[in-house]
Amino acid sequence: MENPKNQILVIFGASGDLASRKLMPALFSLRSQKLLPEKFVVIGTGRTNFTSEEFRIKMGESIPAFSEEKVDSRQVSGFTNDLYYHTMDNSNQDDFLRLRSLIEEIDTKYGIGGNCIFYMATPPLMYEPIAVNLSKAGLTVKPGAFRRVIIEKPFGYDLESGRKLNRTLHGLIDEDQIFRIDHYLGKETVQNLLVTRFANGMFEPLWNRNYIDRIEITSAESIGVEDRGGYYDSSGALRDMVQNHLLQMVGMTAMEPPSSLDSNAIRNEVLKVLQSLQPVKEEDVPKQVIRGQYTGSLIRGECVTGYRYEKGVDIRSRTETYVAIKFYINNWRWGGVPFYIRTGKRLPTRVTEILIHFKPTPHHLFRRDMGKLSANQLIIRIQPDEGILLKFDMKEPGAGFNVKNVNMDFHYTDLADIRVPSAYERLLYDVMIGDSTLFSRDDEVETAWKFLEPIQKAWANDPSIKIFGYPAGTWGPEHANDLIEGEALTWRYPCKNLADDELYCEL
Ligand code: BG6
Repeated sequence: MENPKNQILVIFGASGDLASRKLMPALFSLRSQKLLPEKFVVIGTGRTNFTSEEFRIKMGESIPAFSEEKVDSRQVSGFTNDLYYHTMDNSNQDDFLRLRSLIEEIDTKYGIGGNCIFYMATPPLMYEPIAVNLSKAGLTVKPGAFRRVIIEKPFGYDLESGRKLNRTLHGLIDEDQIFRIDHYLGKETVQNLLVTRFANGMFEPLWNRNYIDRIEITSAESIGVEDRGGYYDSSGALRDMVQNHLLQMVGMTAMEPPSSLDSNAIRNEVLKVLQSLQPVKEEDVPKQVIRGQYTGSLIRGECVTGYRYEKGVDIRSRTETYVAIKFYINNWRWGGVPFYIRTGKRLPTRVTEILIHFKPTPHHLFRRDMGKLSANQLIIRIQPDEGILLKFDMKEPGAGFNVKNVNMDFHYTDLADIRVPSAYERLLYDVMIGDSTLFSRDDEVETAWKFLEPIQKAWANDPSIKIFGYPAGTWGPEHANDLIEGEALTWRYPCKNLADDELYCEL
């Protein structure tokens, strides 16, 4: 592993949840693996009035609380010693000049050499003012050193705002200085998709319309909106999950083999997939897109609040907490193969998986268990219980030729001595070494918005398009099954509904 050059990481919005829950534990873990630069300082900034000492204490408490592994408290204080805090208002230019002085002071004290990364862990409305003020304060360029900017999603709200954000950023910094985080790309199992597909000779010849019947991608969460109701109500599942995480997984599943592992070679192939998505026409939205919103229910005897009663959510909200889409990819490899993607909150379990349904054999020689027509399935489990499951048919021992569907199941946990790093660990490390492979490029982001534009327009313009209520703890609206045509075909349900009371309704 390459050792990153000495650098300062400035986190805007450092008093927020992302910094304490994800960024600090990830940085600490990188330090434990000796993957941080030799000289490395974090400056947290925010409006909350902390001293550096108070910030160190707060982060020192977050690291053991949110790390996946047990941490040694002496190591934690070794790490927090190099944290600083700067109270500032992101719209105040003078505060940026003071930030600049602090950066220069710390740079000299530690002998860093000018490298600096700026991480926008703030509400999205602040991205543009921060970028403008960084640039005005002369912080985005430093001869002989690098200056990089990390941006959290959402990258805009729709195609127009996504384009505008890109235009503003490009007016201030170069595209290769921008690292747009889609934390799904930092997940080990999403990266493993590339290896599964392109390091194994046996999958690639089958990976096309001739052998694949359909592809299903599910990203289910059992939690609700928790304390993010305010943000979520203006976003919804389409913007929050589909525009980024799900479409990136579609890209990785459907892309052509890249010519090399170069970051642009890989992202060019993902982009080509996004460009080939057959647009869902506005008038077809009711047929191809199902949206839902969770309602209150009883799960194992306990009351679960409905979405409209969550904190920060409008009581008449029509924001979707579930969305399922059927679409096609118009290219040589995938012509005619339906892709089904779905995501939702308050579903029965947390699971993200990519399911490849192979075509059944052309001629059925054997009797199958329960008379079902079976076909091979490859299930790539992104999380939890990361691994790969291949379902195929075997002869049941005994007389005759009874066929049974069996599993060949690989779990990452079988590699007992290997730990799966968190997505943020991987992504922070990649920014430090300047590798942008696992970050969304401007054109990918805009093309993803373009695909979603007719859906957003149809929902905004046509109030007759239904939003279905589904009881918390169920697999979303039953209408999502209508997307999957064909006899006896349904989505795969990794576990049963949990709600005691299953009343679907139209909201
Ligand atoms: C985030 C979304 O990007 O991803 C959240 O904003 C969602 O709403 C989260 O809960 C899911 O991430 P993960 O890694 O838990 O699947």
